[in-house]
Amino acid sequence: MKTDVAIIGGGPAGLLLSQLLMRAGISTVILERQSRDHVLSRIRAGVLEWGTVELLNRAGVGDRMAREGILHSGCALSSDDDLLHIDFQETCGKRVMVYGQTEVTRDLYQAQDAAGATILHGVEEVALHDLLSDTPSVTFRHNDETKRIDCRYIAGCDGFHGISRTTIPVEKRRAFEKIYPFGWLGVLSRTPPVHQELIYANHERGFALASMRNPMLSRYYVQVPLTDRVEDWSDEAFWQELKRRLPGTVSDSLVTGPSIEKSIAPLRSFVSEPMQYGALFLCGDATHIVPPTGAKGLNLAASDVHYLSQALIAHYRDNRDDLLAGYGQTALARVWQAMRFSWSMTMMTHRFPDQTGYDRRMQQVELSQLRHNPTARRLFSENYTGLPF
Ligand code: APR
Ligand code: PHB
Repeated sequence: MKTDVAIIGGGPAGLLLSQLLMRAGISTVILERQSRDHVLSRIRAGVLEWGTVELLNRAGVGDRMAREGILHSGCALSSDDDLLHIDFQETCGKRVMVYGQTEVTRDLYQAQDAAGATILHGVEEVALHDLLSDTPSVTFRHNDETKRIDCRYIAGCDGFHGISRTTIPVEKRRAFEKIYPFGWLGVLSRTPPVHQELIYANHERGFALASMRNPMLSRYYVQVPLTDRVEDWSDEAFWQELKRRLPGTVSDSLVTGPSIEKSIAPLRSFVSEPMQYGALFLCGDATHIVPPTGAKGLNLAASDVHYLSQALIAHYRDNRDDLLAGYGQTALARVWQAMRFSWSMTMMTHRFPDQTGYDRRMQQVELSQLRHNPTARRLFSENYTGLPF
């Protein structure tokens, strides 16, 4: 097989990159380890920065999002019983779109199928070759056959557990990591959301988040110790704990119901530099992981894809390689900004096992600054709704 760009990974990053490149006449092949059903079964965050919304529209996959997505002009932060509304529209003139990552991925698969994209599912033993040459290739096994793709570029969109990042020689890589001493227990329920906006709750007992997917599908999280297992938590225990951590004015109206999905996710901040090596370019979770507190995972994958697609289009359309040469630096500048915001939001809202009285006061001062200082609210809003690409 021959193609311009071989894409490893058929998650949001790989699919969006392929969609943008194909619309510019650049050929792609996507290699995905899992089945399509498996990819679409993943439950992930559901807040899209406005830049991501505009990119999805440019990719031609914005119609259902416009119909079914929910525009939010703000969010709420709570501390014990106090609820603070942050108005994005008022502070920075932008909004976010609440629309599940699963739906974004579904829309991308549908568009890629309509475009006649080559997406191979169930591939195994993917290996990248000759990255420092002009003739790199990818070998893999598919339907019990060993196959090879000759290409000009390779996009590593294969997530944190993929092979692309680690194909870069270890001596050429530098990793930055922070592991948080807790996880998020998440529940999806066919119940009306407890509040019209997302609530990020800082409580003595730990963090909680009230989110949503649509008017009859809610997504809730509570911070739990890393030693907890999903089977330790009945639905009843989850709802009781969530009620304790949300402000009384809100929790009194909480509609509970059976969980249709329940899982625990660990939290980490991770960046691997560089984001490119010869003909290999990394996007999304393949090269960085953010704690979900700022809902930046999908949005960072989108901005990486924006920069890489622009660079590849400049190469093929304008015979320009400066954007490709600068891809990693350009993308990392925005990645680190989002890393800081996600880290700061996690530090401000979670209960740390070794937290001192001083640390707790610092959290309260952060929240107080957001309540009383319009500049603090503007900085928060600009980061939450997404810094410019
Ligand atoms: N070969 C082929 N495919 C692979 C391999 C491999 N060796 N390893 C992983 N994959 C596939 C995974 O099955 C997955 O479908 O790569 C895809 C990577 O997708 P994601 O992990 O979703 O990463 P990304 O596309 O960067 O999207 C980032 O997804 O996981 C969330 O929180 C994350 O919101 C963020 C977003
Ligand atoms: C979600 O809706 O799943 C969600 C929303 C915001 C976050 C994390 C998760 O910060």
